[in-house]
Amino acid sequence: MAKWTIKDIAKKAGVSITTVSRVLNQKEEGMSEETREKVIRVIKEAQYQPNQFARGLVTKQSKLLGLIVPTIANPFFPELCRGAEDEANKRNYSLVICNSDDKSEKEERYLRVLKEQQVDGIILLSKDRLSPSSEELIKEGKIPCTLLDRGIEGNKYPAVFLDNETGGYLAGKHLIDLGHRRISCITGPLSIRNSFERVIGFRRALEETGLDHQDLLQIEGDFTIESGYELAKNLLMKNDITAIFACNDLMALGVYQAAHELNIKIPGELSVIGFDDIPIVSSLIPKLTTIRQDTYEMGRKAVQLLINQIETGKTESVQFSPSLITRESTAARKIEE
Ligand code: RIB
Repeated sequence: MAKWTIKDIAKKAGVSITTVSRVLNQKEEGMSEETREKVIRVIKEAQYQPNQFARGLVTKQSKLLGLIVPTIANPFFPELCRGAEDEANKRNYSLVICNSDDKSEKEERYLRVLKEQQVDGIILLSKDRLSPSSEELIKEGKIPCTLLDRGIEGNKYPAVFLDNETGGYLAGKHLIDLGHRRISCITGPLSIRNSFERVIGFRRALEETGLDHQDLLQIEGDFTIESGYELAKNLLMKNDITAIFACNDLMALGVYQAAHELNIKIPGELSVIGFDDIPIVSSLIPKLTTIRQDTYEMGRKAVQLLINQIETGKTESVQFSPSLITRESTAARKIEE
């Protein structure tokens, strides 16, 4: 016989197509053991390979999820994807990973593609607000959507994100407790809520010590190594600062490069603290002190919540807590002789 279809299996087993599909999707609640065994026997005898698309037509499920990330060039996002994919596979879903380059038009294009592929749900890391077209595509397609890492204005969707304000506060308090008072903060793009909230928390730590945040040398970066390098080089040549908070680890790598070129010792002359705790930073010399995001688990949790939304309709948001990982790149400020 030519390639068996789900219809052939149903006919041979004397059951409906829906019954066969329920067996294929392990949704046999209320099904008699005799029926289940009969269907499985016919599937085995026919060496039937279910056609995912055909199965989707019956179950109205593609078992496919979409994940749209802003870039794959920053090691933070692959770690997030790793956790998301492991959870998707554990729950018998496949995951399609798309890179939007933080551009609305590319995000919209991928949303259209994912909708056409009839994904069962989407995990979205958008900039700071969804474009009207993106909103429309999600609503039109009635596609369950969970936000990850980057919340957006209005909090209309379930989300998994970090308590970024506390993360910034932990960084500031760490430097203050080491005696630093001439401090700079290289922020991420302030249009992204994560960056803005980290700065608010950092300033809160300084203000608790009576330091006016006006004393803080704050400059806006873009989360890349290059921006960390350029801004730190300029900063260090013109200012006598003893500590820098870089609002992500890649910019902290740029600060290392600038300090090296200017022959400034870390941490003897300059303390540096980052944010994310991407794998490479624990191998730097000196090892980077940073604020840790439980990135893998955040990715996993986002998929867990999305699948729960798909399968039960329950929507939920979860906020993760940051932690200070003290390594070798920060030290007590040297008291000037
Ligand atoms: O390093 C990239 C940054 O952008 C991370 O801090 C993460 O929060 C993402 O939003």
